Amino acid sequence: MESAVFQKVDSYLTTLFSLEDSVLKQTEQSIRNNNMPEHSVSANQGQFLSLLAKLCQAKRIIEVGSLGGYSTIWLGRAVKDIGKVTSIEVEPSFADVARNNIEKAKLSETVEIITGDALQVLKELEKDKTPVDLFFMDADKPNYINYFNQALKMSRKGSLIIADNVIRNGKVLDVNSQDEKVIGVREYNSYLANNKKVTTSIFQQVGEKEYDGIAISLVL
Ligand code: DHB
Ligand code: MG
Repeated sequence: MESAVFQKVDSYLTTLFSLEDSVLKQTEQSIRNNNMPEHSVSANQGQFLSLLAKLCQAKRIIEVGSLGGYSTIWLGRAVKDIGKVTSIEVEPSFADVARNNIEKAKLSETVEIITGDALQVLKELEKDKTPVDLFFMDADKPNYINYFNQALKMSRKGSLIIADNVIRNGKVLDVNSQDEKVIGVREYNSYLANNKKVTTSIFQQVGEKEYDGIAISLVL
């Protein structure tokens, strides 16, 4: 099937549910204007993250990989007034763009963007013993297992650990791949498959973004 139809359906759903307002559109524009990677989640994916955050009644959310703050806005809006989002971004110029977008979204009270190496920042955040209800990783794929283990330490029974881009246009099938991102998600997927502390559903996603997939792990 043509990927064009996936894009059209994505666009149909985004319009039908009025998913993208001017703040989200401006956020995407800021990513293009600053020549950042166009790797934000789509509006439909954002809505799905928001639904998951509400489902687990999230009060504390941690995101690894803010980029321009697009998914961060979705998560922030989902928990506004009842919870907080901490989003970690290693690239200082991206973190600046994200902070600016969070401010425009009027979410500065809900969302904090921390600049730094995610594993180091997570070690600091671990000092706060409030369990993390939802953890979203959308960053360097080779570190996914490390982020997962850190997330697990900070979780409670019923927390969600979510990872973006675990299918990578089907390249996840390539056992001989030399691409560190593919290797990273292949290792992550099999780590999840063998981990007894979580139950995981991985599903493929199509739409306006490249064909990819998401892993959702429920902490048991
Ligand atoms: C890449 C990273 C992402 O987070 C994404 O959604 C798509 C692609 C990448 O690094 O290739
Ligand atoms: Mg991603």
